[in-house]
Amino acid sequence: MDPLLAWRKEFPILANTTYMVSHSLGAMPRRASDALAEFTDIWATRGIRAWEEGWWDMPVTTGDLIGSIIGAGQGEAVMHQNVSICQWIVASCFDWRGRRNKLVTDGLNFPSNDYIYHGLERQGAVVCSVPSPDGMTMPLETLLAAIDEQTQLVSVSHVAFRSSYVQDLASITRRAHEVGAMVVADLYQSSGTLPVNVRELNVDFATGGSVKWLCGGPGAGYLYVRRDLWSVLEPAATGWQAHRQPFAFEGGPIDFADSAMRFLNGTPNVPAMYSARSGFEIINEIGVEPIRAKSLRQTQLLMDLADEAGFPVRTCRQPHLRGGVVILDVPGGREVTKELLRREILVDYRPNAGIRIAPHFYTTDEEVKYTVAQISDIVSAK
Ligand SMILES: Cc1ncc(COP(=O)(O)O)c(C=O)c1O
Repeated sequence: MDPLLAWRKEFPILANTTYMVSHSLGAMPRRASDALAEFTDIWATRGIRAWEEGWWDMPVTTGDLIGSIIGAGQGEAVMHQNVSICQWIVASCFDWRGRRNKLVTDGLNFPSNDYIYHGLERQGAVVCSVPSPDGMTMPLETLLAAIDEQTQLVSVSHVAFRSSYVQDLASITRRAHEVGAMVVADLYQSSGTLPVNVRELNVDFATGGSVKWLCGGPGAGYLYVRRDLWSVLEPAATGWQAHRQPFAFEGGPIDFADSAMRFLNGTPNVPAMYSARSGFEIINEIGVEPIRAKSLRQTQLLMDLADEAGFPVRTCRQPHLRGGVVILDVPGGREVTKELLRREILVDYRPNAGIRIAPHFYTTDEEVKYTVAQISDIVSAK
């Protein structure tokens, strides 16, 4: 008996769907409803006093629940609304007009991040996006070769959203630091399904969010910044919550807080943090190691079944190179996905990749088998 299956009763949607889409939207924990009710109760009964009774500090206290998942220390991860905002804050820490104005990224990065980087071009940034040779993977040496003395920032996804390919963050960070550059790692597709330790990896910044493997629902992204950089980084994308004394309401240039609150901006998204905490707590209770062990076993099972059925697998087969998703390049993938959704099998489809299928800690082996069997059924019916 798989002990992780005991968690199934905590996720109502598992009772009537085959939920294989946690790389996109993790299932809602039952306790998230209680947390949201707690939010409205506090709003109703404590009113404005709620700010000093916990709401104001929630970007940090909620961030601590992420910190323990990604290996950050207490107070080192803070909450924002989403990754795009976090990436924009990171980019705004640098002056792109000088000699060190190159931003190295690659073809596997999430498009939203790309849009932000290209926006920096009008400030003088030179964006170097290393193309993926096959749209799915990124040879490490090719990426490392692009990182040079002109580089200010290197931005990579730990696990690529399109292919679930795992990048070697330690080697990328080592190379960046050798030439005096910094690294921002997007952990959205890794944290909660793959062990990550930002301190051991020595990355300078990390971003991610609540929606996917962390089962936190929308509206809660997180930003980690290496503690020894706090005193030297002054993000231009800022706001009054980043001020040393926000309630002094001083105008003029900001006097940044000494803590990670210096990377915040305006009023935090309090209800989203209430709903997100439930998922973060559950991942902390389980621990990422058993989640990864199960994920490796079930993604292997998925690939074996796909091989038997003759569906091309577009995920790396080596365990250390594959994240939690298996991508199947099934003929007519978009239409097959629509039919799967109609049959209550929740997956998604990405162009130039295929059907993305992700078991999570709450998935049974029967669900993995059922998903592949239903794809075969739909494909053969066509
Ligand atoms: C790797 C990665 N980064 C970023 C995002 C988007 O982040 P946000 O919507 O929080 O800006 C996604 C969402 O799919 C993603 O997979």
